[in-house]
Amino acid sequence: MQVVRSAQELKNAKKNLSGTVGFVPTMGALHDGHISLIKRARQENDIVIVSIFVNPTQFLEGEDLDKYPRRDEADKKICELAGVDILFMPTIDSMYNQDELKISAPKVRGYILEGAKRPGHFDGVLQVVLKLLNITTPTRAYFGKKDAQQLALITQMAKDYFLDTEIVPCEIVRDSDGLALSSRNVYLSEDERKRALSLSRSLKLASDMVAKGELNCKKIKGQMRQELLKNVDKLDYVAIVNREFKEIDKVEIGNSIILAAAFVGTTRLIDNIWL
Ligand code: PAF
Repeated sequence: MQVVRSAQELKNAKKNLSGTVGFVPTMGALHDGHISLIKRARQENDIVIVSIFVNPTQFLEGEDLDKYPRRDEADKKICELAGVDILFMPTIDSMYNQDELKISAPKVRGYILEGAKRPGHFDGVLQVVLKLLNITTPTRAYFGKKDAQQLALITQMAKDYFLDTEIVPCEIVRDSDGLALSSRNVYLSEDERKRALSLSRSLKLASDMVAKGELNCKKIKGQMRQELLKNVDKLDYVAIVNREFKEIDKVEIGNSIILAAAFVGTTRLIDNIWL
């Protein structure tokens, strides 16, 4: 596995390799969710590139940029074992200019739900993902469904900007107790981790209601809120959208995503299910 630190180094490393390229962008602190993306990229491509870059432009003022977990050495080992060909770990200076051209998230889809709670977050995500896709020019890029709105916006960007990369949505990986894996789970104390299970529980409750024939979003969201409010410290939102990310009144089987976002302690968690 080659470890490279700048776009130029990555381009040089790629010159010696041929075939399809699978790319997994990450912010490091790799867990089984990331490993499942890497494994899928490994199965479906000749070359696998992983990036680890804690992207400052997608963190808002007061968010956890400084304390975001960084585990470079452990991450390198994980990538090596997973059969990664090139690990791209750029420096901030090699990725950004002082006064650079900016890309903006769409004004509606980029500014609801996560975008409303974290205004500007998706501008930063799209800015870095566009750079990473341009540097790595992958055949396929792999993103988890846990960040459902991010996935929808990146898919839209690939379409709107005529990118030559297939955006591949990948299933959410959960711990045995149901908690969706996230690098931020390390912030949770024992008690908070127990209470954090309320997110996946509320989504299970919603899917059970749908399985029993309840399609009314207001009723489903009401039950979810009751479950969440008993356990979380601050509920940011419960929402039911279609795959275009438009809020819906009635669950459309095969075309709906149910989402929840909440703080447990000072940790902000998101989760969702696709129905
Ligand atoms: O999902 C993430 O880890 C990040 O938002 C991404 C896509 C690597 C961009 O920094």
